[in-house]
Amino acid sequence: MQDLDALIRQIDSSRIPRHVAIIMDGNGRWANLKGLPRSAGHAEGVSAVHRATEFSSDMGIRFLTLYAFSTENWNRPQQEVDTLMHLIGWAIERELPELLRNNVRIRLIGDIDRIPDDARRRLLDAEKATEHCTGLTLGMCLSYSARWEITEAARRLASKAQKGEIAPEDISESVFDSHLATAGIPDPDLLIRTGGEHRISNFLLWQIAYSELYFTPVLWPDFDKEAYARAIIDFQSRERRFGMTSAQVQNK
Ligand code: IPE
Ligand code: IPE
Ligand code: MG
Repeated sequence: MQDLDALIRQIDSSRIPRHVAIIMDGNGRWANLKGLPRSAGHAEGVSAVHRATEFSSDMGIRFLTLYAFSTENWNRPQQEVDTLMHLIGWAIERELPELLRNNVRIRLIGDIDRIPDDARRRLLDAEKATEHCTGLTLGMCLSYSARWEITEAARRLASKAQKGEIAPEDISESVFDSHLATAGIPDPDLLIRTGGEHRISNFLLWQIAYSELYFTPVLWPDFDKEAYARAIIDFQSRERRFGMTSAQVQNK
């Protein structure tokens, strides 16, 4: 195993992804393997969030967007949902002083009204308290799904059209984009999924049109800075062509 410093030396600091999005999967299996309750995996997952945030800031990544709880995750056993909501509220409050010290701005992405009162209040407080921060933007996708987000954008545009505030022919890709929950955040350059599954599970379907996808079997609580550095090194080995030819891209 290479140590972290050796891996960091392999990273080209002039080609750091601007935006990394992560599907943080595998907490339950991590706990199962250790004979622990699933909640222990979620608790350990908080430490992995801390590490990923720190490493993103250190690497100069501008946006880190984390899939923390999907619309579909509301269908889990009520006890697990309650534990997760409690954990999320508690973790954000505990992390807030360090987020402020590191100039990290929290941005909530999702149907936040569905989050139970106590956790929602703590989340909104953290978003407000970090509003002025100009370093890493940490997007927390909670009660989020891409189909929910796209449907909401369509609904808002339809309502504006009905009131005569926008003409249907003026609905361009960029106008649509600005009605998404991620408005103002550039598309992810790199999408990482931990936990070994090769699927998107309703995450950022619009925004990942040209993202580089990276799947790792590492379970989220085990995702350390070394694993993150390997993902960035792999990303830097790719040629992003955006529909053009290799020669065109190399001549740019
Ligand atoms: C990811 O881990 C966290 C959430 C979806 C909230 P899981 O809880 O999905 O863990 P596995 O996939 O069951 O191992
Ligand atoms: C995706 O993980 C959602 C989050 C990481 C928050 P899931 O564990 O919910 O995804 P599936 O059910 O395996 O597709
Ligand atoms: Mg899972």
